[in-house]
Amino acid sequence: MKLVKNIAIALTAAAAFAGASFGAGADKHPMQMEWEFEGPFGKMDMSSAQRGWQVYKQVCSACHSLKYFRFRNLADLGYEEDMIKAWAAEYEVAGEIDDAGDPTVRAARPEDAFPSPFPNDNAARASNGGALPPDLSLMAKARHDGPNYIYSLLVGYEDAPAGRDMPAGKQYNPYFKGGAISMAPPLAEGIVEYEDGTAATPEQMAKDVTNFLMYVAEPKLTARHHMGLKVLLFLGILTIILYFSMKKIWKPVKSGKNFYEDK
Ligand code: HEC
Repeated sequence: MKLVKNIAIALTAAAAFAGASFGAGADKHPMQMEWEFEGPFGKMDMSSAQRGWQVYKQVCSACHSLKYFRFRNLADLGYEEDMIKAWAAEYEVAGEIDDAGDPTVRAARPEDAFPSPFPNDNAARASNGGALPPDLSLMAKARHDGPNYIYSLLVGYEDAPAGRDMPAGKQYNPYFKGGAISMAPPLAEGIVEYEDGTAATPEQMAKDVTNFLMYVAEPKLTARHHMGLKVLLFLGILTIILYFSMKKIWKPVKSGKNFYEDK
């Protein structure tokens, strides 16, 4: 009896732990969206990722860096070198130390990573109510259920439930751990005017910027899936060849003939 009781206690504790860690302290689990890149044969929706780059550039880059993504990586997203150079030049990065020993800044070049708009973390915190806007390069992979999480976070702002006090400068967002986030809702209807004419609703922009951030976190996703497909094809053909070779080799044995006497 004691053993049964102990097992029951252990199971309850494990379930409670699993629940707590899965939810990571947020009120709601991320919405489950359909993404073209999902599944073994999924591929990146390039036009959505391109629109997402527009959203990142015009909205998110005011606070967030992409320190593992270089401007030249935009070439794989389908942009020409001239455009990439011009975009890079809109950002400033640390330059050489000058002759007087002072730090300088220079325009970014395609080989530079997307800089933070703030000179350092303290300055970033000071401008954001004490919270640091995290680097977004790996966000799509770093958070549990990353793409669904980013999407839900961006469109999931709500009025705080009755009786829940929000600290000054924080917004209620049930998808964020603890429910109170220091990022004001970044997306509003029409904040971006898409070059391809797509209507810029908050849902559309959230989807597009999520695709872009997935692309940033894994630029070779489509290539990796293609390689997986090739490997599967190869293994399939190999299986067929092996199957028929096996049949041929074992034929004399199966038909009851003595393999050695036949020779
Ligand atoms: C005005 C500044 C500002 C803008 C613009 C902004 N953010 Fe944020 N963001 C923040 C701050 C500050 C935090 C940290 C919030 C906290 O810790 O409470 C944050 C946090 C986040 C997080 C991380 C949540 C987590 O789990 O830690 C994600 C994802 C995010 N932002 C995505 C975006 C995207 C995508 C955009 C553009 C559509 C964007 N942000 C625009 C300031 C901003």
